[in-house]
Amino acid sequence: MIKKTTARLVAISAAYAVTAMAQPAVAQDKVAVANAATAQAAPAAEGGKMVLPNGQDITPATMENGRWYTEEGIPTFKIAEDGTTDYSTFSGYRRYSAECHVCHGPDGEGSTYAPALKDSVKTLDYYQFQEIVASGKQEVSKAANLVMPAFGTNKNVWCYIDDIYVYLLARGVGDLPRGRPAKKEAKSDEFAAQENACMEG
Ligand code: HEC
Repeated sequence: MIKKTTARLVAISAAYAVTAMAQPAVAQDKVAVANAATAQAAPAAEGGKMVLPNGQDITPATMENGRWYTEEGIPTFKIAEDGTTDYSTFSGYRRYSAECHVCHGPDGEGSTYAPALKDSVKTLDYYQFQEIVASGKQEVSKAANLVMPAFGTNKNVWCYIDDIYVYLLARGVGDLPRGRPAKKEAKSDEFAAQENACMEG
């Protein structure tokens, strides 16, 4: 199982940023392929597993550093029957609201300027999502000059990129209603330690 620490992600993001600067055409091509995916249906339950239309399993299997991961080591959310969210999902709500809401609209719903990210995470896979947030994206074919900034060196985003991702997943599959999550688990010591290491590193 591959486990990604945020520290490793920072290194990956730096690599992406360099690649994007050197080869913008390649990054654009990858994004175009991702957008061409037509999967739009609700996630299907396969043998008790939650699977996205793009085939990505989002069933929580293990916890590490206070965050839930699938069997493949991809971050995911866990919401109890009474609606209590895991801490990472709540953290993602806060970070999304602080850093992404201004362009992408409240609750991942989208705006006239930027797409609904609660839907984007059902077609983009986790790594494509990371790459766009790290390197940015520019819709050059449109008359309006739409720009998705690069956040790979912004710790207020990058230290919480997995939280933002799982929050959007929970919104996208309909497991989390709009607005501030009403009930959340407490921040674990492991989560706090990892957060501090990332923000200070
Ligand atoms: C300054 C405005 C702005 C901010 C802030 C912003 N975005 Fe974007 N984002 C955009 C625009 C505009 C696009 C569409 C760009 C395009 O299509 O070329 C976009 C596209 C994206 C995409 C690709 C979506 C898709 O379906 O292809 C992702 C993923 C994304 N943004 C994530 C984020 C996250 C996560 C944050 C917060 C950390 C964020 N963005 C903050 C403007 C913004």
